[in-house]
Amino acid sequence: MAKNVFQGKTIVLGVSGGIAAYKAVDLAGKLVQERATVKVVMSQNATKFVNPIDFQSVTGQAVLTDLFDGDFQNQIYHVSLSEEADITVIAPATANILAKAACGIADDALSTVILAARSTVVMVPAMNNHMWLNEATQHNLSVLKNRGIEIIEPEVGRLACGEENAVGRFPKIETITDYLGAALARTEDLVGKTVLVTAGGTREPIDPVRYIGNRSSGKMGYAVARSAHLRGAQVILITGITNLNPPYGVKVISVESAGQMHRAVMENLDQADAVIMAAAVADFKPSQESLGKIKKERMPKSVELELNPDILQAISDKKANQVVIGFAAESDNMIENATKKLKKKKLDLVVANDIVKPGVGFDSDLSLSVLIDKKGQIGDIKTFKKSDLAGEILDWLVDAFKSSANRRSGQC
Ligand code: CTP
Repeated sequence: MAKNVFQGKTIVLGVSGGIAAYKAVDLAGKLVQERATVKVVMSQNATKFVNPIDFQSVTGQAVLTDLFDGDFQNQIYHVSLSEEADITVIAPATANILAKAACGIADDALSTVILAARSTVVMVPAMNNHMWLNEATQHNLSVLKNRGIEIIEPEVGRLACGEENAVGRFPKIETITDYLGAALARTEDLVGKTVLVTAGGTREPIDPVRYIGNRSSGKMGYAVARSAHLRGAQVILITGITNLNPPYGVKVISVESAGQMHRAVMENLDQADAVIMAAAVADFKPSQESLGKIKKERMPKSVELELNPDILQAISDKKANQVVIGFAAESDNMIENATKKLKKKKLDLVVANDIVKPGVGFDSDLSLSVLIDKKGQIGDIKTFKKSDLAGEILDWLVDAFKSSANRRSGQC
């Protein structure tokens, strides 16, 4: 089964009184969807923006707003919360709660929960840009950071107060969940490993306007990169042009052509413990790239092509101890053709994909796939969500790392 770092974890979500408080309802919903237990604590001001019942309906848990709330039966609920929490996240964190936390003030439910916290505490400040940039807030932030509290910096954009292009926006929900997942995964199974992932299709220029490309969306490679990061790996994502937001916490190197991807992969290969080549690399490129736009009256009758480097082949020829995983895009004889690629490119694992069945493959969230390693086929051919397939690939990778560590230490 693919791993989900959120499953079985308890997240204490502290909500302070800023306009972004309503976005914390979506955050709670997303974390519940990821199968975490979410327990919400609100400041009194936060309850002016959002009704606690909203959080209660989304999380299925009672919401703490008052230290002396009779619903919580015992008045040291804030202490039991601190024991239960695998992680505590304060989102949004106003300038006021940052100041209180920096001074150790505990005069209400939320500030008391922060002071009593034993888990990692992550704060997600969101406020007016002048309040954010104020020396007092910046000082409080550095006090909190020195104390080990983690901060997800606010984004730049339009603020609720009407300021345009200003710092202080509440980050995207996905940014926060990715961060929390990675924080929960710090003890997970890919800690200490560097995984190089390629994603998306390459573009081979004909002239400054036109190119030969393919239909890859990058979804598979991005799912692998995100999942590897959430499981504690350092991830280098070398990506062709896509419409996707890069996963949080991942080092992204953007390229266009196969030649650029080849160079970027080779430059980063030495640092990697594993390479996962999910990119759809164009096999050929125009022999000539016109520097000026080709006018229609000078349209060539044909475009002469030449082969691009096979990046996977080059990795296998140069690799030291890296585990190398390739993909195989097949329209027929999937297992036979993918196995040929596995052997020819000296791969440790190939992920064979059916690219012709409707509804799966390119640009879809689904993939009809099967994993084949050097010893043969693993599992059945089935339709996976790409995020689940990413999990299966990484489960296999973790086992591969374990086997090679055992081999090195002489165990069987
Ligand atoms: N690949 C690569 N460099 C290339 C072409 C492909 O590194 N120039 C990698 C892909 O990223 C993928 C694997 O090789 O991991 C197989 O790619 P695929 O397109 O399925 O097969 P090809 O090797 O290109 O062979 P064919 O197109 O003939 O099926």
